[in-house]
Amino acid sequence: MSGPSNSYDPKQVAMLAPEALDAALTEAVKAFADAGHLDALAAVRPAHLGDRSPVALARRELGALPPQARADAGRRVNDARAAVQAAYDERLVALTDERDERVLREETVDVSLPWDRAARGARHPLTTVMERVTDIFVAMGYELAEGPEAEAEWFNFDALNIGPDHPARGMHDTLWLDPPERGVVLRTQTSPVQIRALLSRKLPLYVISPGRVYRDDPIDATHSPVFGQVEGLAVDEGITMAHLKGTLERFVQGMFGDGLRTRLRPSYFPFTEPSAELDFECFACRGESTRGGPPCRTCGSEGWIEWGGCGMVNPRVLRACGADPDRYTGFAFGMGLERALMFRHGITDMRDITDGDVRFTLPFGMEG
Ligand code: DAH
Repeated sequence: MSGPSNSYDPKQVAMLAPEALDAALTEAVKAFADAGHLDALAAVRPAHLGDRSPVALARRELGALPPQARADAGRRVNDARAAVQAAYDERLVALTDERDERVLREETVDVSLPWDRAARGARHPLTTVMERVTDIFVAMGYELAEGPEAEAEWFNFDALNIGPDHPARGMHDTLWLDPPERGVVLRTQTSPVQIRALLSRKLPLYVISPGRVYRDDPIDATHSPVFGQVEGLAVDEGITMAHLKGTLERFVQGMFGDGLRTRLRPSYFPFTEPSAELDFECFACRGESTRGGPPCRTCGSEGWIEWGGCGMVNPRVLRACGADPDRYTGFAFGMGLERALMFRHGITDMRDITDGDVRFTLPFGMEG
């Protein structure tokens, strides 16, 4: 009779047979070899190295063996397990190497590829010129003011002393928005911003207002149905024409160069009284072309460049906006921005400014 510790079930012990362990190893090696990538290898691992794998179960059976058989069987189980583990490790290294190589290949950055195929844009010189104008006036204490491009007829004309029958209306080649009875125009000038500023701000006021204006003009080298203008307005107690002259001189020098002289020629605008045209000394020849120097392309050898209109705000305009003309006086001015760009940079065709071709705008860079 044998005691319980000596008895063992031959079926269980069959797992310890050398053929069974060899078969487990062969199967494991095949399963690892069949795993084509790391996830697949991880998925088959428990079946061959986990708690319920043949080698683990075999090890568990060792206890059931009689001591004389245990050492021998134990060595075989350990060898088998080590062999399965070695097969696994080897495959793991191989698959990891493969993965690393693939990642390196697929995620390669080719630093020799061109990076600038998306062409870079440029700021439009009209924008930078508007900013330059604004900067000059903000430095003198002015505020930036804006108004809509679709403007009420009253702001664009009536309040500026251009009544319904005023000849100046006809000269503006106005574009009316439909239906015309609504009285909305595409503003023909930036002067309506004067009215908006007077109605919405407290006196005294100093505002500068660059913007787009529209006229029913065909496009050619010197005309465009849309163009830029800058409007300036100062209303305070005791403002005189001397203030206007000094301010415009600062403006011209900020735009075209230090030391340039300015002159005012009598003119007429309905919203200023008296009114004047502003000329400034040619920044290219400084008048030399009129004193026997070489001919000047910039001023056509005139020595002076005409730039815009100005004057003392008409008391009728102040009154229309509720300001007391006995207490307040003011000056206003308005200039074309394309013109400034054209003579500043020797541009001869206005269409180059309106076309929006980046080959034209790029050379201006970021200049302000
Ligand atoms: N708005 C005028 C125009 O488009 C320009 C102008 C002239 C504006 C005299 C002014 C000014 O403010 O005082 O022709």
